Amino acid sequence: MRTSNNLIGLVNFITFLLSIPILGGGIWLSNRANSTDCMRFLQWPLIVIGISIMVVSLAGFAGACYGNKFLMWLYLFVMFFVIAALIGFIIFAYAVTDKGSGRFVMNRRYLDYYLGDYSGWLKDRVTDDGYWGQIRSCVRDSGVCRKMGRRLHGVPETPLMFNFRRLSPVESGCCKPPTECGYTYVNETMWIPGGDMIGPNPDCMLWNNDQRLLCYQCSSCKAGVLGILKQSWRKVSVINIAVLIILVIFYVIAYAAYRNVKRMDNDEPAGEARMTKSHPSHFEI
Ligand SMILES: *[C@@H]1O[C@H](CO)[C@@H](O)[C@H](O)[C@H]1NC(C)=O
Repeated sequence: MRTSNNLIGLVNFITFLLSIPILGGGIWLSNRANSTDCMRFLQWPLIVIGISIMVVSLAGFAGACYGNKFLMWLYLFVMFFVIAALIGFIIFAYAVTDKGSGRFVMNRRYLDYYLGDYSGWLKDRVTDDGYWGQIRSCVRDSGVCRKMGRRLHGVPETPLMFNFRRLSPVESGCCKPPTECGYTYVNETMWIPGGDMIGPNPDCMLWNNDQRLLCYQCSSCKAGVLGILKQSWRKVSVINIAVLIILVIFYVIAYAAYRNVKRMDNDEPAGEARMTKSHPSHFEI
């Protein structure tokens, strides 16, 4: 009895600790959502799951401390759904960011982003007119394009240096015209039509050197936002999968311990069982 209780207590304490990286992931996403990702609703499931794990494992912990079988049962019952929700979230995160990536461009380090390479629910969501209006102003207000500027002795970096820069999907999609347009580099966010004819990509006409417009209306910018969402969702998914594996292992341990407590409880004479239940000193490691 004592060992099982201690075990459940320990398991719950560790699950409690596990909620911290999940919550951290959610908060990290919401910070990014306000700065670079500009999608505000996606981090909520994670924060809810993290808080649930925290509350439920505290309940289980208290249950183990005080030998309260109802709390232990509640822990197992609710944790089952929390684990199911986490699995659902991981599958969802992979499914919606499944397709699409940047394209390699000749003689460039950075990738170009094309909306046609993306599909599915997240794309529909991002390209929805009303929603895109919000994301666009968020990208603009985040100053991501302004911050892209690099200066050497007071002058912008050379075209060659720019060609060999790595750019984030949003920087590439929103802050410069697509490479195929053949514009000539002046600085990172200033491009003038070159000698080459303008490519057939409609984004080429949408490009504007007005620093408030740039390529924020371009399809490439939408693709860039989808690209950066994919990056941050994948990062968060790695944490989630690690937490899920540990959570499942501990769930199995807690379940076995709970079964043990129940069995021993049934074996024990009624008086003794009652005494154990009301005796809080039974939590010692
Ligand atoms: C590029 O030049 C324009 C015009 O001088 C300026 O407004 C803009 O801030 C510059 N862009 C960057 C990224 O420095």
